[in-house]
Amino acid sequence: MAQFQAVKGTKDIFPEEIVKWHYIEGVIRSVTSLYGFSEVRTPAFEYTELFQRGIGSTTDIVGKEMFSFLPDPNGRSITLRPEMTAGVMRAFLQGNPGGGVPVHKLYYISDLFRKERPQAGRQRQFTQFGAELLGVSSPAAVVEVISLMMQVFDTLGLQGLRLRINSLGDIEDRMRYREELRTYLEPFRDDLDEASRERFEKNPLRILDSKNPAVQQIVTGAPKLLDCIKAEGRAEFDRVLGYLADRNIAYEVDHLLVRGLDYYGHTAFEVVSSELGAQDAIGGGGRYDALSKELGSSSEIPAVGFAVGMERMIITMEKQGLFAALSPHGPQVFIVLQDSGLEDHAMRIADRLRRSGIMTETDLAARSMKAQMREANRLQAGFALFVGQDEVASGSYTLRNLRTSEQVSLSLDAIPGVLHESSKQ
Ligand code: HAM
Repeated sequence: MAQFQAVKGTKDIFPEEIVKWHYIEGVIRSVTSLYGFSEVRTPAFEYTELFQRGIGSTTDIVGKEMFSFLPDPNGRSITLRPEMTAGVMRAFLQGNPGGGVPVHKLYYISDLFRKERPQAGRQRQFTQFGAELLGVSSPAAVVEVISLMMQVFDTLGLQGLRLRINSLGDIEDRMRYREELRTYLEPFRDDLDEASRERFEKNPLRILDSKNPAVQQIVTGAPKLLDCIKAEGRAEFDRVLGYLADRNIAYEVDHLLVRGLDYYGHTAFEVVSSELGAQDAIGGGGRYDALSKELGSSSEIPAVGFAVGMERMIITMEKQGLFAALSPHGPQVFIVLQDSGLEDHAMRIADRLRRSGIMTETDLAARSMKAQMREANRLQAGFALFVGQDEVASGSYTLRNLRTSEQVSLSLDAIPGVLHESSKQ
């Protein structure tokens, strides 16, 4: 029988790679805490209707990318979450029926599932880091979440990112614009590709962000959504841009930016990386005030948030050499057993050292001393501690520094102190 392979579009992460994840996750946790965001965890699957209503039934995600299944013949359809925003809002509404605290700042690092065609930077299971600010979506709140996202990128040292931003106005603005856009596109209908022709009927705004160069050519002359937005919405957007400029966050107003999820209104944004090729969006987000009512809330919960693809962030950082300083930690000490009859003794020593906070490895496979030394070097252990009949009889153990080859003889009680001292140097 052929060996099993991981499912297409999924990836295994081994220890050499996990150090990169831990490093990025550490930065995320420290920057989010500077901004007062706390972690939220929601279930990996939800009722399918949550995404149909929340993300929108004409979007690519709901139309063709969800992993949905029936848990039992009479059950309600369930979907592996393709994004976090709808689930976080569902959890918020469920957990805070009376409203409670006016502003909630939540962040997540979570696995998501989309049935997309796998390619570089696009997987069927992937991970997002994201933040959702619920209860307020003022220009200051919008800039708070953008600043948080940019500070994570800055702290990690990412270069060459571009922040594209646009205003999608309110629902009336978009309805008006949709008709203007259809009128503009009508004479070009036969020149559009199949996907865009389909969108012409269902969701013509999505034609604006087509990746097809021929379609891009057509939409360059299209009327601008920003010109259809009422004065109040326009003034709010200008305040967002003003705050960004004030914070020295560079941006480009991009009239073609519309985003692929229906819950957005007013400010929407995306960050692209020049290192990513076709899948160049590293993160995106915006305001989504309408989502709460779409999910059944009697009152509107203003909200704004973003999500960043962790894998795309890692690809960008690899290309920019930003992991060079990361090296996996070897154990502080490797216990080298000179006589396999003393295994229980070595285990007791290992236990004692670990309880005093020393990273300790032992041989679990009764290997030769030579093989144990090779293993200690492979693991980049700092010290070798030799355990043989003589040591046990005398109570004095040889501790060898594997970098300098210096050796000392010590009682068991003295060993933790020496190792702690050396780890400070
Ligand atoms: P999104 O633009 O669909 O937004 O996804 C955000 C990011 O997730 C993308 O920019 C990309 O880096 C990453 N991503 C998406 N699909 C894949 C994939 N198949 N493989 C690898 N990475 C992927 C959202 O999901 C919104 N929920 C963001 C948001 C939060 N809006 C408001 N709050």
